[in-house]
Amino acid sequence: MNIDAQPDYAVLIKDLSVDYGKIAALQAIDLQIPQGDFVGIIGPNGSGKSSLLKAILGLVRPTKGTVSVLGMSPGEARSSIGYVPQAANIDRDFPITVGEAVLMGRLVKRAGLFHRYDQEDHKVVDHYLQRLEIADLVDRQIGQLSGGQLKRVLIARALAVEPRMLLLDEPTAGVDTYSSSHIYELLRELNRDITIIIVTHDTLAVSAYLKSIACINQSLYYHGDPSLSSELIMKVYGCPVELIAHGVPHRVLGDHSHGGPSC
Ligand SMILES: Nc1ncnc2c1ncn2[C@@H]1O[C@H](COP(=O)(O)OP(=O)(O)OP(=O)(O)O)[C@@H](O)[C@H]1O
Ligand SMILES: [Mg+2]
Repeated sequence: MNIDAQPDYAVLIKDLSVDYGKIAALQAIDLQIPQGDFVGIIGPNGSGKSSLLKAILGLVRPTKGTVSVLGMSPGEARSSIGYVPQAANIDRDFPITVGEAVLMGRLVKRAGLFHRYDQEDHKVVDHYLQRLEIADLVDRQIGQLSGGQLKRVLIARALAVEPRMLLLDEPTAGVDTYSSSHIYELLRELNRDITIIIVTHDTLAVSAYLKSIACINQSLYYHGDPSLSSELIMKVYGCPVELIAHGVPHRVLGDHSHGGPSC
């Protein structure tokens, strides 16, 4: 049987390496994410988290190895995936309103750039504008939004795809505590039907919602139950636990008795 076509897996990654010229971003990653999982991807800055999401989306080409998504190639699966990129990569000067930005999520699902939006498109968009509590911003230019408001617009756009899988790259960075918990609650609800992969440094808040954690730092150090030992955190971050421990609850950190070398 061709394992790549197994319907139980949302993502099957085998021996994946991604290089940007001479920079090795990911090395020999093997990762299986079952359908319905809610995975938190953690790791320090520059450890390859965004690159991993981009490989799943087909936005970066593997130097080595294979990626299968929902039993398809990343390109074929694209219209079934909602993606919230790291906000820093968004062109804030692009002259587009919040409503238009969210509506563009429908293009991923529909026939492409020349699709004429229909009633169904507007209904779905209105629904997610309400759910993300940004309906009052519908006519605002995205360039005028605060960082947290923009994040919510990007999440609404990803959900407008009505995806089978949702990839979020630090969706709550710079978002206030109330809005973050609101977003996590929404994700928990969506996770009843779809697989969610979230990159986050917000381990404390998100840990209660996750079904598994993947720790990467070029290589995959761990994927499993969202309770981590301090040794593992040390290994992944290469820093004393204390430096990252604010934000990581006991439940996640487990054994606190070990220190580590300085960064
Ligand atoms: N387009 C690119 N061209 C060259 N190097 C890149 C490119 N994108 C990422 N890199 C490099 O690849 C490595 C992994 O980057 P990546 O963005 O995946 O890390 P990250 O874990 O998402 O980091 P952060 O927490 O800062 O968002 C880094 O060394 C980065 O400098
Ligand atoms: Mg990143």
